[in-house]
Amino acid sequence: MAMAAREAILALGMAFLLAASASAHDFVNFGYSGATGPDKWGSLSPEYKLCSNGKQQSPINIVKEAALLNRKLDRLDRDYVDTSATLVDYGFNIVVKYSDDAGHVTVEGKNYSLIQMHWHSPSEHTINGERFAVELHLVHKSDDGSIAVVAILYQLGRPDPFLVQLKDKFDEMAKETCGADQEARVPIGEMELRAVKRHTRKYYRYVGSLTSPPCTENVIWNILGKVRQMSREQLVGMRAPLDEAYRNNSRPIQPLNGRTVQLYDENK
Ligand SMILES: *[C@@H]1O[C@H](CO)[C@@H](O)[C@H](O)[C@H]1NC(C)=O
Ligand SMILES: *[C@@H]1O[C@H](CO)[C@@H](O)[C@H](O)[C@H]1NC(C)=O
Repeated sequence: MAMAAREAILALGMAFLLAASASAHDFVNFGYSGATGPDKWGSLSPEYKLCSNGKQQSPINIVKEAALLNRKLDRLDRDYVDTSATLVDYGFNIVVKYSDDAGHVTVEGKNYSLIQMHWHSPSEHTINGERFAVELHLVHKSDDGSIAVVAILYQLGRPDPFLVQLKDKFDEMAKETCGADQEARVPIGEMELRAVKRHTRKYYRYVGSLTSPPCTENVIWNILGKVRQMSREQLVGMRAPLDEAYRNNSRPIQPLNGRTVQLYDENK
């Protein structure tokens, strides 16, 4: 009897352990270290093969001195509309997702609609080898399905007024995600986008890829020259909903493979 009971308890314990270890974000099959880390992405799924075979991958290190000043580049005009969105936990990052029209960025005469934004920490792109605390990606898609990303780098310092709007939402999400086996969602009211559509005097452009699987290529990258600030408290708050293993969600630097980085600079 005692044996059987102990065995039953052991079995229950095992089942519980298995359930607990599998519970956190079952829907993400890649990670940032170990057996599912960035160097393995290409072999995790046939759909991810560009992650290892691609020749135009992101992120990259931007060498300022090697960037080619191009006076014909566009102003990177962003015409965003304040609209309501949803905060979604994708497991490997937290995303502000738009379902209504949130406006667009114009790149080479084409409009790309803002579909979502998310953060990586530490930054994915580096500038002259320097890595920053955080990188914000504003992801846009055109009618023909092509993608343009505007990236903003942050160092730690003063609080970022834009992120202040999301503090309570990150807190709410951190409470919700315990043991989540699906994407947690928190509705956000109308978000003020003024801070991310401010006129840009300097940016770097190159053609790369998504920085997470499936690592889709032909993404037009626009990395703003102005590094912004956010507080340590804000950084901790936005990472809180993520599992420990995804709090560092920065893909390593990828080879340039002969690509050039172009520079838009109003002061030159
Ligand atoms: C881009 O959007 C703006 C505003 O909606 C519009 O005026 C413009 O014609 C659009 N441009 C293209 C190329 O579709
Ligand atoms: C995060 O991951 C990147 C890329 O894999 C690595 O270079 C970096 O050292 C890690 N940073 C921390 C703080 O663990």
